[in-house]
Amino acid sequence: MNQMVVTPLSDALGAEVTGIDAANLDEATFGRLRDALHDNIVVVVRGQALSPAAQTHFARRFGEIQYHINSEYKMEDQPEVLILSTEIVDGKNVGIPDAGSDWHSDHSYVERPTAYTILQSVIVPKVGGDTEWTNMVKAYETLDDDLKARIQGLVGIHSFNRTRNPRMTRPTRHENPEAYFAERSPPDSFHPMVRTHPATGRKALFISPRFTIGILDLDDAEAQPLLDELFAHIANRDLVYHHNWRPGDLVMWDNRQTLHLACGGVKPPEVRRMHRTTVQGEIPF
Ligand code: SIN
Repeated sequence: MNQMVVTPLSDALGAEVTGIDAANLDEATFGRLRDALHDNIVVVVRGQALSPAAQTHFARRFGEIQYHINSEYKMEDQPEVLILSTEIVDGKNVGIPDAGSDWHSDHSYVERPTAYTILQSVIVPKVGGDTEWTNMVKAYETLDDDLKARIQGLVGIHSFNRTRNPRMTRPTRHENPEAYFAERSPPDSFHPMVRTHPATGRKALFISPRFTIGILDLDDAEAQPLLDELFAHIANRDLVYHHNWRPGDLVMWDNRQTLHLACGGVKPPEVRRMHRTTVQGEIPF
């Protein structure tokens, strides 16, 4: 196999790669896949169904695994894999049921956020459970010059703590959300609002409604309306690719150039189960 073909999926971003077996890629083909990911930001490979061990091995080819802070939902015998799932067994969630329900870039709340995420669909509902990605390179490029000048050199404040985010509603899943998030949240991280990709040199907006809670050295009276304006811009449909999952889809994305959103809408008793592996990136610059 490994006669790799790359076909764009939308005008915004994303490409489908065919002719590869992700579990058995020679070095040259893997290099072409990584280049395709840098160029297209999101890459979809259908019909893969990697075991958790094979998914971990595949992820490691991109770099160092980044473990999620939510230890209760890591796979017991393969902690590199985080379970995202709406399944409930014996009254307990087997995975995070609502991960990604607001636009975000993975782990932007730590000093070295995720470079690549690899997400594989295991159980796909008939209705709901889609995912969207927005192109943060185009989002930056299509800002008007005034706005580009205003955000030049600004630094976003990123936090995992949902209860400190003025755009998030108070979560209902936890008995005491303030305590839940305070216990788990690392110290705030500070990242340039416009970052440069280390491989392509392209500039991208690097903020998100889920994790960016303010702007360093700017009062909220000025920072929050500026963030609102930018967040309205990034959700422009011309920038978005919408993915309808099939079981065995292996989708990878470059978090330095995109935000993503789990669209939800799964109706019990149907379930959705995904296996996620993340690869650590550099300190954004
Ligand atoms: C995520 O936010 O990493 C997961 C997205 C999804 O499950 O669709």
